[in-house]
Amino acid sequence: MNQRPRRLRKNPIIREMVAETRLSKNMFIYPYFIVPGKKIVHKIDAMPGIDHFSVDELLKDVEKGLKVGVNKLLLFGVGEEKTKDASSSFSNNSVVVKAIKELKRTFGEDLYVITDVCVCAYTTHGHCGILHDDYVHNDSSVEVLAKMALAHAQAGADMVAPSDMMDGRVGAIRALLDSKGFENTALMSYAVKFASAFYGPFREAADSAPQKGDRKSYQMDFRNGREAMKEAMLDEQEGADILMVKPALAYMDVISNLRANTLLPVACYNVSGEYSMVKAAAKNGWIDEQKIVMENMYAFARAGSDIIISYHTRDIFEKGWL
Ligand code: PBG
Repeated sequence: MNQRPRRLRKNPIIREMVAETRLSKNMFIYPYFIVPGKKIVHKIDAMPGIDHFSVDELLKDVEKGLKVGVNKLLLFGVGEEKTKDASSSFSNNSVVVKAIKELKRTFGEDLYVITDVCVCAYTTHGHCGILHDDYVHNDSSVEVLAKMALAHAQAGADMVAPSDMMDGRVGAIRALLDSKGFENTALMSYAVKFASAFYGPFREAADSAPQKGDRKSYQMDFRNGREAMKEAMLDEQEGADILMVKPALAYMDVISNLRANTLLPVACYNVSGEYSMVKAAAKNGWIDEQKIVMENMYAFARAGSDIIISYHTRDIFEKGWL
C-alpha cells in the first residue's frame, strides 16, 4: 500500500495541521428580536435560549455578548403596529430605529449593526410586501422596502439586509441610499431565499406568519438550483455587497455553487427551524449539542460560507466551543 490516508489522522496535532477548514469568530452574526416597551426579556418558546428584548434590555445583553466577542448583530423588529401599507416599518420612530440609535450611541464602532429589511412583521396580512388584489405587488413593495432601508441607514445602521425576495429591490435600495448620501451603508442581500418550512419557529418569534396563503409567489422553489444562481447574479449586478443563502443545512449545494460563481463574500443563514431541531433533540438527550452545532458550523464553512448567521453564536462564544 503506498497510500495510507490514516497517517495524517494519527493524533490531534497532525489532524489540526492538515485541517482544510478553519472557523473564526469573525465569521459569525447573531440575530436579535426587539420589541417595544421597557424591561422586557421574554422567552421565545419555539427557540429555547432566544428572547424578545426591549431596547433597554437589549443594550445589557449586547454588552454581555460583546465581552465574549459577539460584535455583529442582525436586528428584527417585532410587535409594531400592523397596517396594510406597512407604514410602521419605515417610521423614524420604529423600535428598530430606536435600537440602532441606542446601540450606536452606546457601543459606537465596537459594534456592527445590520438590520433585516422586510415588512412581514408590519403588515396585517403577514406577507413580505404590499397586497394588490391578494397578490404581493412587486414594485410598490420595493418602494416601501427602500424607505425602510433608508430609515435604518439614517438611524446609523452599518448594513441593511433585505429578506423579502421582491424583484429589483437591491437596486432600488442601493439607489435610494446613494441618493441620500448613504453610499457607505453596506447591503447584504438575502439573494437566495427559499420558501421553506424551516422558518416555522421564526414566524412565532416575529409574529409574521402570512394570514392567508404562503410565500411561494416570491420566495424560491426549493427544487431550483440554477434559478438560485440567477437570483444571486441579479443581486450582484444590482449592487449587493454580500450574497446570502437561506436556509443553510438543506442547501449546502447552493452555498458551494454560489461560492464558485461569485467574487463576493457568501453568507448562509442557519435559520430558526434548524436551530430549534438541534435544541429539541439535545434537550431530550438524543444528541450532543456542542458536537452537532460545531459539525454544522464547519460544514457551512467547508461548503463555502464566509459568513454564518446563527442563533447558536452566543452559545458557541460563551461556552468556548470555538
Ligand atoms: C422575513 C424573514 C424570515 C426570516 C428572516 N427574515 C421569515 C420568512 O421569510 O418567513 C427567517 C429567519 C429564521 O427562520 O430564522 N421575511
